[in-house]
Amino acid sequence: PVTLTTADGEELQVTCAPGQTVLEAAAEAGAALPASCRSGTCGSCRATVVQGGYELGAHSPAALPEERRACGEVLLCRTVPREPLAVALPYESSRILYGGIPVREAEIIGLDPVARDTVRLTLRLAEDEAGGLDAQFEPGQFMELQVPGEEGVKRAYSLANTGNWEGLLEFYIRLRPGGAFSSYLRQDARIGGRLLAHGPQGAFGLHETGLRPRWFVAGGTGLAPLLAMVRHMAEWQEPHPARLFLGVNEEADVFGVAELDAVAAELPGFGYEVCVWKPGPSWQGRVGTPADAVAAALAEAPEVPDVYVCGPPPLIDAVTQATAGIVPPDRVFYERFLAT
Ligand code: FES
Repeated sequence: PVTLTTADGEELQVTCAPGQTVLEAAAEAGAALPASCRSGTCGSCRATVVQGGYELGAHSPAALPEERRACGEVLLCRTVPREPLAVALPYESSRILYGGIPVREAEIIGLDPVARDTVRLTLRLAEDEAGGLDAQFEPGQFMELQVPGEEGVKRAYSLANTGNWEGLLEFYIRLRPGGAFSSYLRQDARIGGRLLAHGPQGAFGLHETGLRPRWFVAGGTGLAPLLAMVRHMAEWQEPHPARLFLGVNEEADVFGVAELDAVAAELPGFGYEVCVWKPGPSWQGRVGTPADAVAAALAEAPEVPDVYVCGPPPLIDAVTQATAGIVPPDRVFYERFLAT
C-alpha cells in the first residue's frame, strides 16, 4: 500500500501490484496525479517519499537532479514500492483528477504568428453537457492537445490565460521542425478547425507563502504559464512585489510584450525585463540570459523572493545555480519543457 498526502492534508490510499508504479496504481484507483511524459523525463510527477523503500527506475537527471533525489524526491511514474510507502505530494488535492483526465472538443478561433516560429493558438471549448463554457483551471497548468485524426499523438502546452467562463484557452507554441503538433499547425490548422483538449493537468502553480516577492523566469514559450500567473495576480490584485525575466535567443524571438505591458498597467509592483542572448545592433534592452539577470538582481534585492521558472532544462539549471545559496531550493519552483 501507498499513502499519498497532498499539501492540504488529504490522504489517498492506493495499492501497487508487483512491478507497478505509484502513478499507474493511482490512475487505476481513479486518481490521475499530475504527470506529463510518464517516462521519467519531464519531472512533472515529482513527490517526496517520507517513509518506506522503493525502486526508482531509469529517468533523466534533468527531471530529478541528484541533490533532490538525495532528499527523498522521486518521480512517481518511475517509483515502484518495495514496502509500504508514505509519500508527500507537493500540490493540493484540487490538482488530482478523480474522474480521470477530462477530454473536450475545442474549436480554433485564433492562430496568430507572434514571433519567429512562434504562434499564439486560441481555442474555444465546445459547450459541456449542461450548455456551459466552463474553462476553469489554475495558472501554471497545461492541456494536452491531440493532433486531429491521430489518436495517441498529443502534445502538452501550458495555458497562458486564466480560468474563465467563456471556454477560452490560450497557448504560445514554438513551431519545431518535424514536431507532430507543429506540423499540424503549419500545414493543416485553420480557424474553425476542431481538436481534442485533454486537461487541465499539472501541479505547477503559485504557492501561498505570505507576501514574499515573486520572481518569474521564462525561456521562450516557457513564458506561457508564468504569464498566466501574473495575469492571475493582476485579476486578484495580489500585493506581492513581482518581477518577470523573459529570455530569448534573438530579437526576432521576442513575444508577449503587449501582454506583459497590460499586466504591468494593472498590477502595481510588477515589472519585467526582456533578455536577448544574441542581439542585433538596434537592441536597446538587456543582453544575456535571464539567469544572469536574476543573479544581478538578487545581489541588490532587499528581500529574498520565491522564484518560478519555466523553460528548457539548461535554463532551469542556470537559474538553480544563480539562486543557490540565496534562495532556499524549496522556494524555487520550476516546470521544464522538452522539445517535442
Ligand atoms: Fe514522471 Fe514526466 S510524468 S517524469
